Amino acid sequence: MYLSQLYLKNFRNYTEEHLKFNKNINLLIGSNAQGKTNILESIYLIGTGGSHRTNIDSELINWQKDGLYLKGELIKDNQDYQLELSLLGRNKEIKINSNRLSRINDLIGYLNIVIFSPEDLSLVKGSPNLRRKFIDLEISQISPYYRHLISKYGKVLKQRNNLLKEIRDNKAPKEMLSVWDQQLIDLGSKIIKKRLESLIKLGILSKLMQRKITNGLEALELKYDTELDLDNNSSEDEIKESFKLKLKEKKEREIYQGATTLGPHRDDISLIVNNIDIRKFGSQGQQRTAALALKLAELEFMKGEIGEYPILLLDDVFSELDISRRSYLLDTIRDKIQTFITSTDLKHLDGLKGNHKIFEIKNGSAIEV
Ligand SMILES: Nc1ncnc2c1ncn2[C@@H]1O[C@H](COP(=O)(O)OP(=O)(O)O)[C@@H](O)[C@H]1O
Ligand SMILES: [Mg+2]
Repeated sequence: MYLSQLYLKNFRNYTEEHLKFNKNINLLIGSNAQGKTNILESIYLIGTGGSHRTNIDSELINWQKDGLYLKGELIKDNQDYQLELSLLGRNKEIKINSNRLSRINDLIGYLNIVIFSPEDLSLVKGSPNLRRKFIDLEISQISPYYRHLISKYGKVLKQRNNLLKEIRDNKAPKEMLSVWDQQLIDLGSKIIKKRLESLIKLGILSKLMQRKITNGLEALELKYDTELDLDNNSSEDEIKESFKLKLKEKKEREIYQGATTLGPHRDDISLIVNNIDIRKFGSQGQQRTAALALKLAELEFMKGEIGEYPILLLDDVFSELDISRRSYLLDTIRDKIQTFITSTDLKHLDGLKGNHKIFEIKNGSAIEV
């Protein structure tokens, strides 16, 4: 799949811009704060219905305007799709081939995106939150059902936490917990099961990537890291059983803390290289290689799930990689994955051969050079 063109109106610092993209590589070159990431963000927005860097939609609208409009042309399976997104105040509307979607969720499955931004360079050594977000966003893009589970789980969690505090303060009886416990266990176990399933696939792929990038020196292994008693192959029922048991054990403590301390919102992924947990003990090189391996595995994972490669957005990370990782990355994407690369200069991009387009980004305008 690839995005053949994009029209932006009143998006961030762009007033009006019409871009025609290369189906392989597109370079967005410009100084800081000119609008490079904004272009990637607009692509992410039209693909997923949301921004990758803010939850507040109104921030996306040009400060001088009341609304924004994006229109993209997606080529997929030799078919043409016209994607439109408009935001007027808080009102978001998405159309595909002129048909209005009743739910943002229905956008899933058209334009799939993998983004690699500076934040992802700390995917391995950073907080568990980053790794949860990584796996959640990935599964959400291929499964509207998962997206639904995550949002429902979030609501149940909030309610349960409120109730725990009320019980602690003697404002509610303990018996009320059981209703929320049941929902927490049900939804949480489904989420964990989905994560385990994709972790198995991702694990195989990222192991392969890590081995290739390090010339066979490093074997990467992914493991689901949780307080529950389970392994990568546990069934949904086994997860439920363990969840139930542990929740019971923790009840008094959780009331005391006024917080739910067990469940997918607390879980993590451990990354093991040659028997060492590199989240804590890896060298920076190992951590970066593993972050890259995970992202490349994500591309292959999506290819496996949807039958086509997603498009890849590389925000300021290309120049952060050393020559060998860079050339491995280029070999991987060459001629098969449409890629958008932002950089402040062309210096690090000399390894790029073949088909590409360069856009010069300056103060909210993009000029093809
Ligand atoms: N809603 C907005 N309206 C107008 N300008 C904005 C808005 N949001 C951000 N900007 C401007 O966009 C620029 C940052 O763009 P960005 O794409 O992040 O830069 P970079 O080229 O460094 O990636 C800044 O100059 C910022 O002031
Ligand atoms: Mg930027």
